Amino acid sequence: EDYHKGVKYLHESGIQKVPKKYIFPISERPNCYTINENPQVASKHNLKLPVIDFSQLYGPNRAQVLDSLSYACENYGFFQLTNHGIPEEVIKNMVDVGGRFFDLPLVEREKYMTKDMTTPVRYGTSFNQTKDGVFCWRDFLKLVCDPLPQVLPHWPSSPSYFREMAVTYSKETKILFIKLVEAILESLGINVATKNKTQQNDEEIMLKEFEDGSQLMAVNFYPPCPNPDLTLGMPPHSDYGFLTLLLQDEVEGLQVKSNDDWVTIQPIPNAFVVNVGDHLEIFSNGKYKSVLHRVLVNSLKSRISVASLHSLPFNSIIKPSPKLISETNPSLYKDTNFAAFLEYLKSCDSTNKSFLETRR
Ligand code: SIN
Ligand code: FE2
Repeated sequence: EDYHKGVKYLHESGIQKVPKKYIFPISERPNCYTINENPQVASKHNLKLPVIDFSQLYGPNRAQVLDSLSYACENYGFFQLTNHGIPEEVIKNMVDVGGRFFDLPLVEREKYMTKDMTTPVRYGTSFNQTKDGVFCWRDFLKLVCDPLPQVLPHWPSSPSYFREMAVTYSKETKILFIKLVEAILESLGINVATKNKTQQNDEEIMLKEFEDGSQLMAVNFYPPCPNPDLTLGMPPHSDYGFLTLLLQDEVEGLQVKSNDDWVTIQPIPNAFVVNVGDHLEIFSNGKYKSVLHRVLVNSLKSRISVASLHSLPFNSIIKPSPKLISETNPSLYKDTNFAAFLEYLKSCDSTNKSFLETRR
């Protein structure tokens, strides 16, 4: 079937109308409102998400920045991060090699197509193309980033500099992730600052687990779509993992659910969109929210995004932090692990996307 060749292929074949396979049920289409919703909610579309200036974390305003971080994670599950220290050049190079990968002939890209969800590199289309009843208007390249010496030889060696740029980008985002974890733990009242030089404390052990955690990068490509009102680039889903650091180019498309409305996240050049994943919601015992988000497509421009998903190690048990649990504040989640997530994935399709729902 042509669907499995992906949407870039469809776009290039010159189709004038999206095939049936991509048409979402009316209630899931981009501009659908349920009967109870006031059509006026549409005017809230440019509601501004919190923008956090990361450099301020290391100055006299740290407490205020931690407050905004906490506010964003509790109320939106999302924020944008500016002045994060990752050089513009690194970001530009990643988007550039990502785009050049999708420009390769289909035969080159297809080499990485596989049904195996555990390979170090996987090229594909839609959300889960072996399961999805309705297909999404997205092609993607997923790269497992650790352990690097083992996975790197499997990453695409073409286009030139792909590996070099993607390695630099993945290392920089991992470093930023760790700094964000420190800030987030502190915002939850868990202090990770070293207190004792000779003995590791619980918090340091915890931080080490994050350092040993796994990282997955997804480069997403959304070509122009002839009927953007009938389909989605990505269906509503929450992210598995602790935090996602997302880079979107200048073309809008990402929307986050906020009070029953879908809010577009306005691209800010060189900023990261950071969102709370299922692990962090569980870890915070529900204080921070792993929120549904989706991607719209458009008829004019291609869009590229690069998501860096950071999780705890595969063998970790994910549960609320003991520091946040007490007799009066009991755990709201079942303990879980990566194996449970894989089981869930096997059973889910594009109409059923929240792993978290199964853990409450
Ligand atoms: C995107 O904005 O293209 C990706 C969103 C996601 O990874 O969920
Ligand atoms: Fe996501």
